[in-house]
Amino acid sequence: MRYLTAGESHGSCLTAIVEGVPAGLKISESQINTDLARRQSGYGRGGRQKIEHDVVQVVSGVRFGRTTGAPVALIVRNRDWENWEERMAPFGGPPSDLKREVTPRPGHADLVGALKTDTDDCRNILERASARETAARVAAAGIAREFLADLGVEVFSYVTSIGDARFEEDDPLMRAPDYKPLAIETSEVRCPDEAATEAMKAAIDRAKEAGESLGGTFRVVATGLVPGVGGYATAGDRLTSRIGGALFSIPAVKGVEFGLGFEAARRPGSRVHDPIGLDPQAGFVRASNNAGGLEGGMTTGMPLIVTVAMKPIPTLMTPLSTVNLDTLEAEEASKERSDTCAVPACAVVAESEVAFVLAEAYLEKFGRDAMVDIKAALRAYRQRLKTMAR
Ligand SMILES: Cc1cc2nc3c(=O)[nH]c(=O)nc-3n(C[C@H](O)[C@H](O)[C@H](O)COP(=O)(O)O)c2cc1C
Repeated sequence: MRYLTAGESHGSCLTAIVEGVPAGLKISESQINTDLARRQSGYGRGGRQKIEHDVVQVVSGVRFGRTTGAPVALIVRNRDWENWEERMAPFGGPPSDLKREVTPRPGHADLVGALKTDTDDCRNILERASARETAARVAAAGIAREFLADLGVEVFSYVTSIGDARFEEDDPLMRAPDYKPLAIETSEVRCPDEAATEAMKAAIDRAKEAGESLGGTFRVVATGLVPGVGGYATAGDRLTSRIGGALFSIPAVKGVEFGLGFEAARRPGSRVHDPIGLDPQAGFVRASNNAGGLEGGMTTGMPLIVTVAMKPIPTLMTPLSTVNLDTLEAEEASKERSDTCAVPACAVVAESEVAFVLAEAYLEKFGRDAMVDIKAALRAYRQRLKTMAR
């Protein structure tokens, strides 16, 4: 299952095409819209989210609520398009009062993109480098999420820090999978702890006041996985590399840790690896989950737990210095309407990326054509694992 997106931040719409979708999967537009709303929410987001109210339109590959096996095409319209029609027109000439973007923002794609593509208007770059594109990813991932949910796999996320405000967790690698979804979804920063939520909001308020921006960290958790999904045999099989690559495809993501992550490099092996046991009911079990649910590039059957670091937003209301591409003089970088902090939104996008990788790995292992066959293959596999543990 793969997706491709198209569309500019202020173009008429964002489009996604998902291919490799098996037939017979129930799809709900309202579920996708819920995920789109979750991506749009979060304390510290900018004015754009007040304009947009993302709603998906599924235009192919689904009939009477179920997938047919054909590629699924989805559209999310940009409400702001009505204010940008002339400036973003696909054809015709630019309006006489067009203001080109010539003061590239440090930390964004503006300068390098303009150099690379030989344009004198950074808007050609920022329209696509803008994380508005991630709305299309979240919509597309609705298909992957429904597929996984049908197989008993849930993917969720929560925020662990914003700036220097942290959620101090007790044994998160064992306890995080049981965090209450309601506590996460009702927190304005997607953090299940009330005190930490307030500290994170206060940090965002301080940053906003100072014309600053903030990054942070969050975890993505997937539960209900069977062992043996992914592969150890070739570099491209390893879920570690596939999930890592998918997460690093998200704008502003600068770090990914599996399980204990960098902490594992500081500990001796006996305090890192997860002892194997045998339970009469559950079969092979693990005493801990320091690996974060992956060994040898495959799922262990324990929850997948990945921690992700997002850098601060590049657009600053107290801008850094840059060079004007027209005058070649020093100037302040531009102030495109912007978020102060988008860590909670980034966490929702990260759920989507993880869901896509897991969905593709399940399809590889259990078949690709029809849900009924995939479910039967999964049942047979679970049964075989049981007999191996007896
Ligand atoms: C959900 C989300 C929202 C973002 N919102 C903004 C924003 O409002 N303003 C901004 O300058 N960057 C924003 N970013 C970050 C930029 O898109 C990103 O830093 C830029 O594309 C450069 O890519 P890089 O940081 O990976 O080098 C956002 C990123 C994500 C994931």
